[in-house]
Amino acid sequence: MYRKNSNSSLTDLLQKHAGDVLASEGMQKEKDFSQHGFGSCYDHSIAVTLMSVRMAQRMRIRVDMESLIRGALLHDYFLYDWRDGKEEHNLHGFRHAKRALQNARRDFPLSPIAEDVICRHMFPLNIHPPRYRESYIVTVADKVCAVQEFSRSVLHRWTGRPAFAGNIGD
Ligand SMILES: [Fe+2]
Ligand SMILES: [Fe+2]
Repeated sequence: MYRKNSNSSLTDLLQKHAGDVLASEGMQKEKDFSQHGFGSCYDHSIAVTLMSVRMAQRMRIRVDMESLIRGALLHDYFLYDWRDGKEEHNLHGFRHAKRALQNARRDFPLSPIAEDVICRHMFPLNIHPPRYRESYIVTVADKVCAVQEFSRSVLHRWTGRPAFAGNIGD
């Protein structure tokens, strides 16, 4: 059970379980693609990972922390600009989880739980439900983060307030 709460201990956890992912060329490439609002896919992936870890800690859910972190970091590892208008990126919402899993399997060692986190994170838009509690946690964290990011970008447009204050892991 993980009980540490500070940002520095979260950074340590991410480095411990996914230092190779964070330092990888592919993950750095996520910084080039915007996700919801003004943030990058990288910002979003870090935010989802931090929220997933905090949810597991605060709700005292027993998890495979390495699988949770690796799956959360890589859940949107599709590595393209989904707004580029290319036909192959149509139906992004339905297809990108599979693409993310293909890319992640190619680039990193992953447990079956981490693979499930990635390929099931779009439930219920993708109809197959998650198999593990880690996948459910990331599915929820992803949606909460998406709403927060979208809301921040709308607020930014209306008020000029910064949409993103930065994340650990940069
Ligand atoms: Fe996604
Ligand atoms: Fe996501």
